[in-house]
Amino acid sequence: MKILVLNGPNLGRLDLRDSSIYGSMSFSQLQEFIEESAQECGFLADVRQSDSESQIISWLHEAADSKTPVIFNPAAFTHYSYAIGDAAAMLKAPLIEVHLSNPLAREEFRHTSVISGHANGTIAGFGPHSYRLALEAMCTLVKA
Ligand code: DQA
Repeated sequence: MKILVLNGPNLGRLDLRDSSIYGSMSFSQLQEFIEESAQECGFLADVRQSDSESQIISWLHEAADSKTPVIFNPAAFTHYSYAIGDAAAMLKAPLIEVHLSNPLAREEFRHTSVISGHANGTIAGFGPHSYRLALEAMCTLVKA
């Protein structure tokens, strides 16, 4: 089964971000880690990243039309993009929100998610393993 793994702004430049918060994997290493973890769960992960709100909305529309399960790290859009929240609300298959860091343990503006209310659940704070845990949870959700 195909799973869409969407990643929002600045995650493509993980190698340049604060490694004490985001860890030391580059985005391409993270992508490989997700693809391998997905295979172990019996999924085919289609991992995508964009800095563009419009592109992410198009991908969510595509997932809604094809009823594809989505694992989603909306990055900074998490905290304010109602347009992405509205697109997330249209999804038909499960949606799991993920974060590398734990936004609730960081600055106050990160404590709000306009996506969480449309997701089956959120996994945050485990670095790349947040994605692995999300894949495991997705496995349970799609089998249910
Ligand atoms: C993030 C957390 C967000 O607050 C931040 O804007 C990001 C990454 C995370 O994965 O920890 O860019 O989504």
